[in-house]
Amino acid sequence: MIGSIINGHEIASDNILEVKNPYNQEVVAEIALASKKELDYAVENSFETFHATMKQMPAHDRSDILRKTADLMEERVEEFAEIVVQEAGKPITSSRAEVERAIQVLRFASEEAKHISGEVIPMDAAMNGEGRLGLVKRIPLGVVAAITPFNFPLNLSLHKIAPAIAAGNTVLFKPAEKTPVSAYKLTKLFQEAGLPDGVLNLVMGTGKEVGEPLVQHDKIHKVSFTGSLPVGRSIRESAGFKKVTLELGSNSPNLIFDDADIDQAVESLVKGAFAFSGQVCISAQRIYVQSEVYDQFLEKYIEKTKALKVGDPSKEDTDVGPMINEKEAERAKTWIDDAAENGATIETGGEQDGTILTPTIMTNVDRNMKVIAEEVFAPIVSVIPFDEEEEAVKFANDSIYGLQAGVFTKDLDRALRVADKLETGGVWINEISTYRQDNIPYGGVKQSGMGREGVKYAVEDMTELKFIGMKLKT
Ligand code: SIN
Repeated sequence: MIGSIINGHEIASDNILEVKNPYNQEVVAEIALASKKELDYAVENSFETFHATMKQMPAHDRSDILRKTADLMEERVEEFAEIVVQEAGKPITSSRAEVERAIQVLRFASEEAKHISGEVIPMDAAMNGEGRLGLVKRIPLGVVAAITPFNFPLNLSLHKIAPAIAAGNTVLFKPAEKTPVSAYKLTKLFQEAGLPDGVLNLVMGTGKEVGEPLVQHDKIHKVSFTGSLPVGRSIRESAGFKKVTLELGSNSPNLIFDDADIDQAVESLVKGAFAFSGQVCISAQRIYVQSEVYDQFLEKYIEKTKALKVGDPSKEDTDVGPMINEKEAERAKTWIDDAAENGATIETGGEQDGTILTPTIMTNVDRNMKVIAEEVFAPIVSVIPFDEEEEAVKFANDSIYGLQAGVFTKDLDRALRVADKLETGGVWINEISTYRQDNIPYGGVKQSGMGREGVKYAVEDMTELKFIGMKLKT
């Protein structure tokens, strides 16, 4: 049994949640869930620890702890990857890749902690500013609530926790109920690396019991959330004056022009649509292909997709494992069936058995179908022809979302022109929308969210500017 960790101590509870392996339904762990009372205690403790400990901790100490945590994780890549396989059902090769990224995020944060700086204002630029000194410092906010999703239980948690610590905040960590073991192990690792008690408080609980009051708590200064649009919207509405960063969903577009390297596009878009069963916010969901190369692309795309190995995520050669639970797999299957009943063609896949949904390619779709208009968060992708550049841009922008997009062409002028016109937080040229590097600014426009992650940018969002002016003696 594992549970919340508040002020360095584990908290027992009678309210037990079983975490099951999404592939074989075996029990992975039992979790003692916290109640509102424990949440209140945790927030109080995070608040006190900020004032008593974190505010005084020098940057080199924060940097050292983050580096030590990375070193410790590096010694246990396999152990952490195994946890992700067990509780999230992510294939082992992708789970290892996630651990490697998590280590990188810790290292970026360790470096960033030493580079948080301010500026000197040229006060004499204003007539009455002569004889005055103006300094701007970047200071921590206080307590950051990190509310994290199941799909990258280590790396997306660290995208919040590591910059928050680098910037000198304390963290109240509320992980997804589906993947609490990664969160627990991560918190323990920070303890082992020497993070003082109370700097990272882990509270395991339901959204209702713990998540909602957490967002409303006045001793929380910022909420950083990754998850669904409805939850993001309700956080925005109830957070009051707190700063909020929201990383929400998307139905990411990828545009293939007639001069693109089709084999490269096919190869990368197979990964881009089906990695972790499409349960990635920037998963390739809509692929727009110029008519001249549409048939060629589609034929190769179907062939490569059919060759994917679907099944047990613990096996080295598995490409596509289960979805997080049966309910989600059934929901996605319904979206496929609805589209098919309304005229869409299932080119391959579309079969569901328990938590497994086979990689699905659809054509003849239209803009009102859920598989196009909403975030599928499942191994489903649609391939759609277009004629002109303008039309492709119009199709791609026809969305309430705007997180990342991919553009495949050899024409650089066109690539940059299209990139400028796409309404997304990020655009990749000759790379899939699904690619993310951990030091780029990452976040959405429209209803994909607000604020940016990517360690340096998260640090900006997790600090505020403080001005100190001085009238000099003349
Ligand atoms: C996400 O699903 O939002 C994160 C994708 C990533 O970090 O690769």
